Amino acid sequence: MEKTIDETAQGSKLAIEPKLENTKKLFIESYGCAMNFSDSEIVASILSKEGYNTTQVLEEADLVLVNTCSIRDKAEQTVRKRLEKYNAVKRINPKMKVGVLGCMAERLKSKFLEEEKIVDLVVGPDAYKDLPNLISEVNEGRSAVNVILSKDETYGDISPVRLNTNGVTAFVSITRGCDNMCTFCVVPFTRGRERSRDPQSILEEISDLWNKGFKEVTLLGQNVDSYLWYGGGLKKDFTKATDLQKATAVDFAVLLDLCAKAYPKMRIRFSTSNPQDMSLDVIRSMAKHQNICNHVHLPVQSGSNRILKEMNRQHTREEYIELINNIKAILPNCTISQDIICGFPTETEEDHQDTLSLMDVVKYSFGYMYAYSERPGTMAERKLEDDVPFETKKRRLAEVVEQQRAHGLIRTEEFLNQTVEVLIEKESKKSASEWSGRSAQNTVAVFPKEDYKIGNFVNVKINSCTSATLIGEAIGLSENN
Ligand code: SAH
Ligand code: F3S
Repeated sequence: MEKTIDETAQGSKLAIEPKLENTKKLFIESYGCAMNFSDSEIVASILSKEGYNTTQVLEEADLVLVNTCSIRDKAEQTVRKRLEKYNAVKRINPKMKVGVLGCMAERLKSKFLEEEKIVDLVVGPDAYKDLPNLISEVNEGRSAVNVILSKDETYGDISPVRLNTNGVTAFVSITRGCDNMCTFCVVPFTRGRERSRDPQSILEEISDLWNKGFKEVTLLGQNVDSYLWYGGGLKKDFTKATDLQKATAVDFAVLLDLCAKAYPKMRIRFSTSNPQDMSLDVIRSMAKHQNICNHVHLPVQSGSNRILKEMNRQHTREEYIELINNIKAILPNCTISQDIICGFPTETEEDHQDTLSLMDVVKYSFGYMYAYSERPGTMAERKLEDDVPFETKKRRLAEVVEQQRAHGLIRTEEFLNQTVEVLIEKESKKSASEWSGRSAQNTVAVFPKEDYKIGNFVNVKINSCTSATLIGEAIGLSENN
């Protein structure tokens, strides 16, 4: 199975902007989706004003924070294991305080304090501004919990401290929460209702990144296509907005347009799109601006109409295919990637075949594929029996992963003998003499370093490939530098 950042974590390796006057040390690590990684940068910024600089050495931390994921049981188990490690360190350094942030904090609330004795602090995704107060409580010897979800918190006024940064690519969050209520998904419960962030603050954050030399931003949200700014508050309350608010509202297509126009040399990506909310205006904005990358992550979850309905996804297989056809008609070289769940309750062999045949129609460039994991409190857990045996889920997942691998290869082979523009992000994991970066279509490319540097846009001639990686040689800097 392909790995998402779900299964990995990064300690606070490199924080730019450490403050010399700060004396306390914060070790913060994140699990799960990109939004969690982005939230940790907001938390680091809030705590920087409280005297904390980040450290990558767990043993020297005064405060350890773990930003957690609840999306699948395995993600939660990974965090529980990490807490054992903190426990061992706390035995040597008893003054160290431990806090849990993110979706597990929101899901388990004060139960966390009972279940995990090491935990001093439990803070949900909308309560990070309360961290200074909560930490004071903890330092006075009490445990502290704040898991109140908000109708309007977007952290738009906080300038994130970039953690683990390569200085080239960054996340910028544009919405929080999700109103979609897919029956398998815990996110609406852990991250609350959907809110959009003021476009002005988004543009300011991109401006700041541009001034610091960043070359690519990914606009983040659980469901970016439903972005809607009309002055703040929940999206559902838009019906009560004034005529002026309605006339000046900014939707996602307009936001893309604003960002791309303001920073024509900044590469712009976005994630995640929900098929039911993706408008053709978004695709047209992409077509209008050369700097908006031609890649759409468009989770489908299943190819069976019956299962899509059980999942409460608001589109059919046919509507999904129509959307893909429209994307391809407007943006012929746009790559498409997927999320797929195998073994959702009641999924039959025939439903599974429908997923495989849908994959055949789209031939995705890459994807993230999962075995269904029942989540407490979701509609699926309450209404449906988790009745697909684990072995069957695993087998179906293996078939889907294999099919994706084959399609990935078809897609990467399309680039053979072509020249693609690659933004260099880091050293290749496989070879210290090669760079690794991504093309606009989000395909990873590796090539010999020569004299190029991280942050360069380089034209790379593709000579060979695997199912996920393009392998080539640089033929010069692109005119984008
Ligand atoms: N809109 C979100 C989706 C969040 S969850 C985003 O920004 O990415 C990411 C993916 O995890 C989903 O698309 C789905 O494929 C998978 N997922 C969610 N809940 C799951 C569950 N209970 N079991 C298995 N996979 C799940
Ligand atoms: Fe989850 Fe569906 Fe929202 S997958 S994050 S409820 S779009």
